[in-house]
Amino acid sequence: DTRRVHAVRGELIHFTADPADAGDAALTHLPDGVMLIVDGLISESGPAEAMLAKLPADTRTTDYRGKLILPGFVDTHIHYAQTDIIASYGEQLLAWLEKYTFPTEARFSDPEHAGEVADFFCDELLRNGTTTALAFATVHPASVDALFEAARQRSMRMIAGKVLMDRNCPDYLADTADTGYADSKALIEKWHGCDRLLYAVTPRFAPTSTREQMALAGRLFAEHPGVYLQSHVAENRGEVAWVAELYPEARSYLDVYERYGQLGERSVYAHCIWLDETDRERMASTGSAMSFCPTSNLFLGSGLFDLDRAHALGVRVGIGTDVGGGTSFSMLQTLNEAYKVLQLNGQRLSAERAFYLATLGGARSLYLDDRIGNFASGKEADFVVIDPAATPLFARRMAATTSLSERLFVLMMLGDDRCVAATHILGECAFEAGTA
Ligand code: GUN
Ligand code: ZN
Repeated sequence: DTRRVHAVRGELIHFTADPADAGDAALTHLPDGVMLIVDGLISESGPAEAMLAKLPADTRTTDYRGKLILPGFVDTHIHYAQTDIIASYGEQLLAWLEKYTFPTEARFSDPEHAGEVADFFCDELLRNGTTTALAFATVHPASVDALFEAARQRSMRMIAGKVLMDRNCPDYLADTADTGYADSKALIEKWHGCDRLLYAVTPRFAPTSTREQMALAGRLFAEHPGVYLQSHVAENRGEVAWVAELYPEARSYLDVYERYGQLGERSVYAHCIWLDETDRERMASTGSAMSFCPTSNLFLGSGLFDLDRAHALGVRVGIGTDVGGGTSFSMLQTLNEAYKVLQLNGQRLSAERAFYLATLGGARSLYLDDRIGNFASGKEADFVVIDPAATPLFARRMAATTSLSERLFVLMMLGDDRCVAATHILGECAFEAGTA
């Protein structure tokens, strides 16, 4: 038998449905569980006693008793090239792009720089328990190569694409409608479906593309079934007003994307704050997804996401860190800020729903829930191991909890990279605290 068999023991927590719909039945909790992994896929999980009784005595076993094991986090919106401008002071979206973002993205014309940042970025995701990301590269095709190479070396699931941007940006960062199309097509042929890598057509946002480029982005999306499309929409009020000037023919900002064939399954829009009811209905009926990016929305002063409205209309929603507009790689810190954004908006976010959104909900928003998002049999064994005693305060507050719900809430409010004891990719340890 040449199969790679691996048993992992610990407190297993995962979701099989949205707690906002299914309530407590959405969560599966095995206080002492064993997950059996064969060739990187979950074959079965169950109570430790029953599982161990039927496994051969020499089965390779990793013992994480005393720790929590959750599905790897899914970050549905992040910019790898903005790693080095995280925490840059004082601006809202459009000025922040001019002052910090464009100059730093220009450096990715150098493939060596791109490679160094891509390696750091993937390691930082793993340190934070993030195992799948939908990421922007830059306008440079080699920046996509660098990110996919780094993800492939680590066997990570990564969806990424070359930024399309042919106006309203510095000349040194602009492509053209034709080169953007040709370069994207070549990258799709090179990378889409290679190992765990998937391609996303990436028009930055409507203001930085001409109508010609918007049409060709829609064409790329239509011509390659299974590829993704990622962009930004309705993040900032100044941006919304600018789009209305640039595209007076459109009913709304979202309508610009719809006119160019950019809504549909596997399209993911970051922010989605200043949308109207029709926009949200269009996203729901086309199967498009929203990425809720709370740390970014607070940091750039953009506004408050309306999760209740999205949920009521049945729109797919995932969570995004949006680094470097966002201020943390940690999905735990991002859930903390999501809770606060919703508080300011008169809404609630239970811990169960928060962790659902960071795992299975994110996977559903990416149409990857047949592969990742929970511990169902046949799924890829990407998971994060959480140390509930990672810091003095965390251990003290955890010790005072009386329910799983409360423990999960403490984890999302106080947790960050310090709580990540290990991250596994396809069953194998890809990060272990204290060794990196
Ligand atoms: N809108 C267009 N580009 C960007 C970007 O890089 N970050 C954010 N947060 N919004 C954008
Ligand atoms: Zn963004």
